[in-house]
Amino acid sequence: MTPELYTSRLRLRAFRPSDRNTFATFVEDPAYRRYLGADHPDLDAFMANNLSPEEGREFSWVICSAGTDTPIGSVFLGIVEGTARAEAACLLSPVAWNHGYATEATRIVITFGFEHLGLEEVFARASAANAGSIRAMGKLGMHPDRAQARADEVYYAVCRDDWRAS
Ligand SMILES: CC(C)(COP(=O)(O)OP(=O)(O)OC[C@H]1O[C@@H](n2cnc3c(N)ncnc32)[C@H](O)[C@@H]1OP(=O)(O)O)[C@@H](O)C(=O)NCCC(=O)NCCS
Repeated sequence: MTPELYTSRLRLRAFRPSDRNTFATFVEDPAYRRYLGADHPDLDAFMANNLSPEEGREFSWVICSAGTDTPIGSVFLGIVEGTARAEAACLLSPVAWNHGYATEATRIVITFGFEHLGLEEVFARASAANAGSIRAMGKLGMHPDRAQARADEVYYAVCRDDWRAS
C-alpha cells in the first residue's frame, strides 16, 4: 500500500487509472523528456508501472497541489532488492517547474523511506546536464558520489544519519 503523504503545499497519493488523461498532457512533452533518455517509458508503460508497484519494494505517488486531486507530477521510491538502499525519482509537468515542488515532494518521500521503511540510504541519478534536478538534489542535502556516477549521469545520495541531523 502506498500511504498518502502531505506537505504544506502538496498531497501525494497512489496512482489511479483515471490519472492517465492528465499525465497524457505532458509525459510525451519534449521538454519533460529532454534528460530522461530514450529508454524512459512511454505513457502506457509509465501508467502501468505506477499503477502496479511491487508490493513492499516500490512506491509510486501522484503529486497534487494541496486540496486538489489533479496530478502535477509523480515521485517514485524503489528499494534495491535485498538492500536498505532506495532510488528516488521525481517527474513534474513543465507547468509546475521551479516552484520548489520536486524538492518538497521528494523530501517527504525520503523521510517516509527512512522513518517507515528502515532505509539506510536514498540515492538518485540524473543526467549531468539536468541542472534543475541536480539543484533539487543539492537542496535536499544529497551529496554527489563520483564512484557511482555513469558516463553522462550524476549520482547523489543521503544516508539516514545525515538526514536526521539535517
Ligand atoms: C527536475 C525536476 C523534477 C525539478 O522539479 P522542480 O519542481 O522544478 O524542482 P525545484 O523547484 O524543487 O528545484 C529546482 C531548482 O533548480 C533550479 N533550476 C532549474 N533549472 C535550472 C537551470 N537550467 N540551471 C540552474 N538551476 C536551475 C531552480 O531555480 C530551483 O532552484 P532554486 O529553488 O534554488 O531556485 C523537473 O524539472 C522535472 O520534472 N523535469 C522533467 C523530468 C526530469 O528530468 N526529472 C528528473 C529525473 S532524474
